[in-house]
Amino acid sequence: MKYYFAPLEGLTNYVYRNIHAEYFGKLDKYFTPFLSPNQNKKFSTREKNDILPENNIGLNVVPQLLTNNSEHFIWACNEIEKMGYTEVNLNLGCPSGTVVAKKKGSGFLTELDKLDNFLDDIYSKTDINISIKTRLGRYSPDEFEEILNIFNKYPIYELTIHPRVQTDFYRNPVNKQAFYKYFESVKAPVCYNGDIFKASDCKIENVNAVMLGRGLIANPFLVSCIKGENVFDKQIVKDFHDKLYRVYKEKLSGDIPVLHKMKEIWFYMNVLFSADETIWKKLRKTKNLKEYEMLINSIFSYDLNENAAYIGLK
Ligand SMILES: Cc1cc2nc3c(=O)[nH]c(=O)nc-3n(C[C@H](O)[C@H](O)[C@H](O)COP(=O)(O)O)c2cc1C
Repeated sequence: MKYYFAPLEGLTNYVYRNIHAEYFGKLDKYFTPFLSPNQNKKFSTREKNDILPENNIGLNVVPQLLTNNSEHFIWACNEIEKMGYTEVNLNLGCPSGTVVAKKKGSGFLTELDKLDNFLDDIYSKTDINISIKTRLGRYSPDEFEEILNIFNKYPIYELTIHPRVQTDFYRNPVNKQAFYKYFESVKAPVCYNGDIFKASDCKIENVNAVMLGRGLIANPFLVSCIKGENVFDKQIVKDFHDKLYRVYKEKLSGDIPVLHKMKEIWFYMNVLFSADETIWKKLRKTKNLKEYEMLINSIFSYDLNENAAYIGLK
């Protein structure tokens, strides 16, 4: 089984992925949060930093692109290939209202003629391996039959399926039944993604690759747990935390952006500690690093919760 880190905008940037790999072991692939190529033909500073080879040494990183414009996609592929990458990923899953309104991400899944033309263009005019991350449709998993007929026309390097539709966002249960209904008909190698929060969630039959997101932020030992390794060690989490915190303090200016980053991680990772709710409440509210550091000391005075599992949006 291969294990991939899902792209999570705001969370799995190059800082996080490098430090996670250092303390919890390297995964087989790391997908970047989406980059949005546009008519400017220029990546933003944040986007560039995230894919610079010197910021990703020793990691198998796959830049992800979000666009419905094949010219912009092809421009980005060329830039990414020049940097030495061998794979890019197309985002056909993002459920966000603003993205979907522009017919990008999962919003592109209702524009089947346009999607077909787009795929025809990008697969015929680039040399790089193009994988796709998709949902089953916009409103109903039945839409996937037609979507898959289109996908199967192209040499998709790997197809990651998140078995929800756009209107599910991340809320409704994943539809494994629909995943298996279509699984055999997919020509490309398939990767499963969605709601793997504990080792037993990872029993996805006949699949050779899984992509983990929120579960792995919540419990950074999750892949080791799935592999049956007994690795829970509070000191590793402390060292991981401290390095992440130190690097964010170096790279970001001002307390608030640093706190914002750390709070986003704790939104998921709180399950790893049995600290009581008053501490988490204070952590969510704190506006300065001194108080944050005091709270961190309290949090780390608790034992690790070895049954830690993210259990869905709160
Ligand atoms: C905060 C957040 C940001 C995300 N950003 C991206 C993204 O940039 N690109 C993408 O394809 N999916 C993105 N996703 C979706 C995840 O990659 C993944 O498909 C989803 O969280 C389900 O997997 P999980 O249950 O293992 O978390 C995001 C999800 C969350 C919660």
